Amino acid sequence: MLLRIAVQKSGRLNEGSLQLLRECGIRLESSREQLRVQADNFPLEVFYLRNSDIPQYVEDAVADIAIIGENLLAESQKPLIVVQKLGFSRCRLSLAVPRETAYPNEIEWFNGKRLATSYPNTLSKFLKEKNIDAEIHEISGSVEIAPNIGLADGICDLVSSGNTLFMNGLKEVETILKSEACVVARHTLEPERQALLEKLLFRIRAVLAARKTKYVLLNAPDNKLDEICNILPGVKSPTIMPLAEKGWSSVHSVIAEDDFWEMIDQLKAAGAQGILIMPVEKIIM
Ligand code: PRP
Repeated sequence: MLLRIAVQKSGRLNEGSLQLLRECGIRLESSREQLRVQADNFPLEVFYLRNSDIPQYVEDAVADIAIIGENLLAESQKPLIVVQKLGFSRCRLSLAVPRETAYPNEIEWFNGKRLATSYPNTLSKFLKEKNIDAEIHEISGSVEIAPNIGLADGICDLVSSGNTLFMNGLKEVETILKSEACVVARHTLEPERQALLEKLLFRIRAVLAARKTKYVLLNAPDNKLDEICNILPGVKSPTIMPLAEKGWSSVHSVIAEDDFWEMIDQLKAAGAQGILIMPVEKIIM
């Protein structure tokens, strides 16, 4: 039996999804035209599908799991579950208006306005929650052009860098939801497929944990070891090995990417020398 995973055929999640599977040690033949590919070293079959079709395929049990954005999951209104957030393709679904609009920072401004979007379900749910009565114009792409051609007073669309809004003379005024890539699944899978999913998730979590950390190696005088070990957390605790030169040791540990620069400054101040920082490929806790 195979676990069937749907990924974007093209679009913002395609590269990150395939890279993640690669880092999980899964080998796929890379032919662009082939829309269904079986891994040769893991019981996994990959379907390359149009983004907007993916939730339906998972709900219909054509695929078992998928890598999609939380924004698409919300818009699809399918009863799928997020089994793992993936930390890439972060973006937000936001309301934006022409830059010259004097927006009063009050959502009520949208009452009676016309809004263009490819996310009608998410937008209408949001407007209902906020008690706003606005007109929704559903369009399938190039939403940012709508205010410029007189079709709408504002838009609701994905924002990542903000560049598309900027280039089209728009400004972001309200965030509706935050999104990142995630693995989704149906509520119940056959036990054998569930077991394969657990195996895949184990690998994914090891890759994600490693992405957030760096391996650090440094030399320190023995009388500074306590101070240095207090700075370095390590998975359990740092490894200490004596150097050939008497009175010196080598300290090995892992540190969180986010704490990286601050910690390096503290380590140097505490007397560490020859600090090496290396990427970590996988972390199994
Ligand atoms: C999205 C969205 C915007 C753009 C925003 O389109 O519709 O056009 O990205 O990104 P930015 O803030 O970095 O400029 P996407 O490329 O995902 O394709 P889509 O039109 O199919 O949604």
